[in-house]
Amino acid sequence: MSGRGLILAIESSCDETAAAIVERGARTLSSVVSSQIATHARYGGVVPELASREHLRAIVPVVRAAMVQAGVTLADLDAIAVTSGPGLAGALLVGITYAKALAFAQGLPLIAVNHLEGHIHAVLLNELSLPDGQRFVEDEPALALVVSGGHTHLYLAQPAHACWSYSLIGRTLDDAAGEAFDKVAKLLGLGYPGGPSIDSLAPFGNPFAVPFSFAQFKPKAHLAGKAPPRTKAARTAPIANLDPRFLFSFSGIKTAVLRYVELHNLRPEAESRREALFTGSDAAARPTVEAALATCDPQTLDLIASFQHAVVGDLMKKTFAAAESLGTRRILVTGGVAANRELRQRFTAEAARRSVRVGFPTLALSTDNAAMIAAAAWPRLQAGNFAPPELSADPSLALGR
Ligand code: KG4
Ligand code: ZN
Repeated sequence: MSGRGLILAIESSCDETAAAIVERGARTLSSVVSSQIATHARYGGVVPELASREHLRAIVPVVRAAMVQAGVTLADLDAIAVTSGPGLAGALLVGITYAKALAFAQGLPLIAVNHLEGHIHAVLLNELSLPDGQRFVEDEPALALVVSGGHTHLYLAQPAHACWSYSLIGRTLDDAAGEAFDKVAKLLGLGYPGGPSIDSLAPFGNPFAVPFSFAQFKPKAHLAGKAPPRTKAARTAPIANLDPRFLFSFSGIKTAVLRYVELHNLRPEAESRREALFTGSDAAARPTVEAALATCDPQTLDLIASFQHAVVGDLMKKTFAAAESLGTRRILVTGGVAANRELRQRFTAEAARRSVRVGFPTLALSTDNAAMIAAAAWPRLQAGNFAPPELSADPSLALGR
């Protein structure tokens, strides 16, 4: 132990094997991410068994690279942090088993971190690097929108002693927003993951061409069996006490896009050309925007732009309504979908209009990484909040109350 406040964090909850060294929860010395996109792209989504196998292959070189890049040795570390859930059981177990063994061998404390808390801390980590004037008051409560491939959740994050406490304010009843991006992209032959492709093509279409709309939930209607939670992710947190104004549903828009494609007979041959382009031999190397554009007719581009505009609009509407209702003047937007350019622009503009502040992670820390896990672990290290030796993976671990 060096006493420098150095945490080695490991993240393996889904399809990224990541390790990072962060000093005192604020200074990132290294952040290494090994993506499995090339492995999963040809299947159009993450295959859990393949994810575990790839984590096993990557974990040792990724941790080693993080140590080398940070210029530290095991003897310099003060703690080891690891994501304990939510995520894929087999994938989580690879990181947890490795972290436990390393902590035991080095006599270091082990800190378990909730992946969603990690995403929230990705924004806080970014803020710490901003000049004084642009920073939030560190202990000001915030409304956090975690919007990724597995989650669309709103939390009220409040500083509590050295740590943060979280209350669930809203969430999706079915698909996550990132899942909608991925499913719509798959439908249109735009490869996996779909968010980045849709993000880069949307500026070339008319966002008002197709008027998609989202359901507004009536009080308690979601509890009367009319809109029950339909996915495993949606079952991980109680919905009974949530305000229906802050509930999301993204499963319908995928069907609406499919109907539109069928109704307008959007050229199937163009879709197969796109598919060949996006899932070709080197699926990890994304096609250029020009190459992708060459396979899209104007109507498809309008559809893509309208889809993205509608999803971002729904996320904005409910997030700002929740912030207003809670009287929160600070909003954090994080998770893979927070990398979306239209989302960043529109949230930033709306926040300015309402005189509230909105923060995002850096682009690199929007998607899964381990620096955010180290940042979330830092208050725990200070509070002596360590994981028990029998720590195991919790695939449906919920955050807060
Ligand atoms: O946070 P993340 O890396 O993993 C999860 O915890 O799920 O998020 C991945 C999700 C995928 O659904 C991906 O399509 C989406 O984030 N995503 C985006 C963008 N970049 C990644 N969605 C919209 N626009 C983007 N630029
Ligand atoms: Zn994530």
